Amino acid sequence: MTNKLAKLIFYLGTLISLVLFLALTFDTHRQIQTLTHADQLSEQVVAGKQVWHKYNCNDCHTILGFGSYYGPDMTRVYWRRGSEGIKAVIRSPEKFTTWRKMPRLPVTDEELEELVAFLRWASEIDTHGWPPQDQKLRGETGRAAALGVSPGAVLFQEKGCFACHRVYGTGGQQGPELTHVGSRLSYETIEKVLTDPRSASPRATMPPPVVSHEERDQLAAFLAGLK
Ligand code: HEC
Ligand code: HEC
Repeated sequence: MTNKLAKLIFYLGTLISLVLFLALTFDTHRQIQTLTHADQLSEQVVAGKQVWHKYNCNDCHTILGFGSYYGPDMTRVYWRRGSEGIKAVIRSPEKFTTWRKMPRLPVTDEELEELVAFLRWASEIDTHGWPPQDQKLRGETGRAAALGVSPGAVLFQEKGCFACHRVYGTGGQQGPELTHVGSRLSYETIEKVLTDPRSASPRATMPPPVVSHEERDQLAAFLAGLK
């Protein structure tokens, strides 16, 4: 290859890359308002982002690719836990932590509402399927959505809960009816029952459900919503 040809390839390559880079940047900026639902950026959402920074949630959590990976990715946490679930974890993290520790932070009730608004808004941003680890969840949520129910409702059936509990007139009677359980028990208490029924009442006879961390959250979110 001659010197001249090498230079030509270099300049042409750089030029093409530059044009592509500018075109893609321009295209992203053109779409960003729609992809992020900028019209739904309420004051509460903005305040929630400030709360997020005030308590340095980024030190442990990643959101939209920014932050650390000690705790779970927060981009789609609203899908996983819903607003009651998020509040429950922040109010009393020690009830939910496994081997990793989430600290109890002095977040006020107002700040909590703002954080939830922010996390809900973030969950609606169209990130073209990123981060990929939440794809599975989207699949499950999609299956439940196709049936017109929440993922927790699907689990309630699949995990055999109907064998002992009645909901809207269906199910066994060995355990209490759960049609309005959400108005009797908080999300936290339901999580506790589902983690270990005996921790909620020492004489409990309900067998501890065989469910993953995530499935337990979904079941609790479903039951807490039955008011
Ligand atoms: C010192 C590190 C740390 C900080 C700071 C922190 N977290 Fe966490 N957080 C964690 C860890 C670790 C977990 C996972 C616990 C587990 O599953 O065992 C977690 C879990 C959560 C969950 C549940 C996630 C899920 O996928 O179910 C939410 C919601 C959450 N954190 C929100 C927040 C918010 C909001 C802030 C800031 C106000 C915050 N965290 C600050 C470490 C932290
Ligand atoms: C073998 C029967 C049996 C099965 C299966 C069962 N439960 Fe229970 N459950 C009970 C009984 C009995 C109680 C009452 C407390 C006790 O004795 O443990 C109870 C209590 C509860 C409570 C607390 C209700 C209250 O009003 O205090 C919840 C919530 C609950 N079960 C959810 C579930 C879910 C979700 C499943 C499925 C993963 C499930 N149960 C499967 C028998 C069962």
